[in-house]
Amino acid sequence: MIRTGFLWLSERRGVFNFVKSNRIARHFASRFVAGETLDTAIEAARRLNEDGISASLDLLGESVTNRAEAAAARDEVLRILDRIAATGADANVSIKLTQMGLDLDYDLCRENAERVLDKAREHGIFVRLDMESSAYTDRTLSLFHDHLHPKYQGLVGVVIQTSLRRSSEDIDRLIATGARVRLCKGAYAEPPSVAFPDKRDVDAAYATLAERLLERGEYPAIATHDEELIRHVEEYVARRELPASRFEFQMLYGVRRDLQLELRKKGYNVRVYVPFGTEWYPYLMRRLAERPANVAFMIANILREGVTSR
Ligand code: FDA
Repeated sequence: MIRTGFLWLSERRGVFNFVKSNRIARHFASRFVAGETLDTAIEAARRLNEDGISASLDLLGESVTNRAEAAAARDEVLRILDRIAATGADANVSIKLTQMGLDLDYDLCRENAERVLDKAREHGIFVRLDMESSAYTDRTLSLFHDHLHPKYQGLVGVVIQTSLRRSSEDIDRLIATGARVRLCKGAYAEPPSVAFPDKRDVDAAYATLAERLLERGEYPAIATHDEELIRHVEEYVARRELPASRFEFQMLYGVRRDLQLELRKKGYNVRVYVPFGTEWYPYLMRRLAERPANVAFMIANILREGVTSR
């Protein structure tokens, strides 16, 4: 119920202005978001790198409403790639296709994504296409399979959400084409026709698909903070004698830092997703939806501030 409410709020732009101007909400966002500028993101990556942890920088922002906004987002991603190269940060980049114009025009989105990937190739930096709600799964995978993967093999990868019923088939196709996959549970509210309503099914699918990727996938990314699943993966690779270099664990900035460091100390590759930028509201709402304890804390503080500031 709370999860659905926050996912609903994540799509209400009107609420953003209220939340954005609230000091406590901004403070809370800073736990999950590495600042509003590229400098702050590079600094966050540098701190992670000091602990042997890699980063994936994500310019916050989702569906754009016109071509100029899509071009601006694309240009900002080009600057991120240049800056990673210039600073030598151990970081790659994650992008959202709706930010590149997927909702406006498929070909425009393809052109913008290709501009990004041309620059990525120049610097030898990997780019991950984040997966958005199921309304975009087909278009994201078709752009990937039909254009981006054949043209930029090894430089671009996708994300598969174990909450979706279709994911088992999608994974098989991606494994067959040698694509790099990040596996996550899925952060969006989805109807039962396309997604498992019961979290236990999402977790069970995660374990099954992770095994498949570890066995036959191309450097998969195991993106979760779920300790049970992480232990399952550790046991699986030990039992199958798969080298730690075959895959990486991924977690979100500000979530389970202890676990990130523990896995790194054990010798696993660990990458942290580092979101930054001014458009942090939908991202924050999705993080709140994942953890009711976060919600209670933030609402209590916002209400307190509202009452005392009157
Ligand atoms: P789960 O939600 O079951 O949480 C397990 C435990 O992790 C919790 O008990 C808690 O301890 C901790 N935890 C999880 N979320 C927390 C939070 N917000 N605050 C504090 N603790 C928390 N999704 C998507 O749809 N498309 C995408 O492209 C991506 N990309 C992506 C990249 C990376 C690197 C990660 C780690 C995750 C994503 N996700 C994503 C998000 C993903 O789908 C999922 O919503 C979150 O990772 C939470 O799911 P968990 O697997 O952590 O399990």
